[in-house]
Amino acid sequence: MSATSDQRHLTPPDIRARKGGTPLVTLTAYTTPMARLVDAHCDIVLVGDSVGMVLHGLPSTLGVTMEMMILHGQAVARGLSRALMVVDMPFASYEEGAAQAFRNAARLIAETGAAAVKLEGGAHMAETVAFLTARGIPVMGHVGLTPQAVNQLGGYRVQGRGADAERIRHDAVAVAEAGAFAVVLEKVPDALAREITQGLDVPTIGIGASADCDGQVLVVDDMLGMFTEFRPKFVRRYAELGGEADRAIAAYAEDVRARRFPAPEHVFGEEPGK
Ligand code: KIV
Repeated sequence: MSATSDQRHLTPPDIRARKGGTPLVTLTAYTTPMARLVDAHCDIVLVGDSVGMVLHGLPSTLGVTMEMMILHGQAVARGLSRALMVVDMPFASYEEGAAQAFRNAARLIAETGAAAVKLEGGAHMAETVAFLTARGIPVMGHVGLTPQAVNQLGGYRVQGRGADAERIRHDAVAVAEAGAFAVVLEKVPDALAREITQGLDVPTIGIGASADCDGQVLVVDDMLGMFTEFRPKFVRRYAELGGEADRAIAAYAEDVRARRFPAPEHVFGEEPGK
């Protein structure tokens, strides 16, 4: 996403205008090569704080820092020419209040070139969302299961079942009315996600929510099958790259031990060109 690029990126108003239209395609990316791959197919590319678990082996997203988000954001920006780039605000970078949130959101935007930030939380974050959007920082909301609140929620459980539905409905409306240009609905029951989608005038982006959301998001490594163990219900695996990588690495190890690699075509002779 360089300032000299002549190809136009989708903008938050473009995304907002897609409410009720062709579903918005969103994937995460954390590196330049992956950003290049997803840019051709996605409307939104999210530099998610899931990077902490996916690439850094952290047990949750709580240990992710501003520095990590900036570094991965810069890498992703180099690979995008069309999609809207959104960067997650990491845990403890915005919850103290609107001024802290503005300071850190502005840093993410200025240092990565992203056009928007995403932050987790519903009604209690509405004031912060309004503060940022009034000052030129587009915000994507994130309600339902908010992984940064995993300790408070007691795990990565579906949110909004039964009497709890009203809380999630209220959260989604609050962040949308505060000015969010889109709202992620994570792990909420299908019917509730559909009802929220019908009630909001900004797009909903579902993950473990409903096919009737205005768009969908997945962690790219999950849908590529990079992890053999991790198989959440809400992920469809479009490839099994983890298994494929394991087979390739095992074959390399066998070849090295048997001195089958390098072969004559991989080594250099005395004469140039050989
Ligand atoms: O961090 C992330 O990847 C996310 C998406 C899964 C919504 O927040």
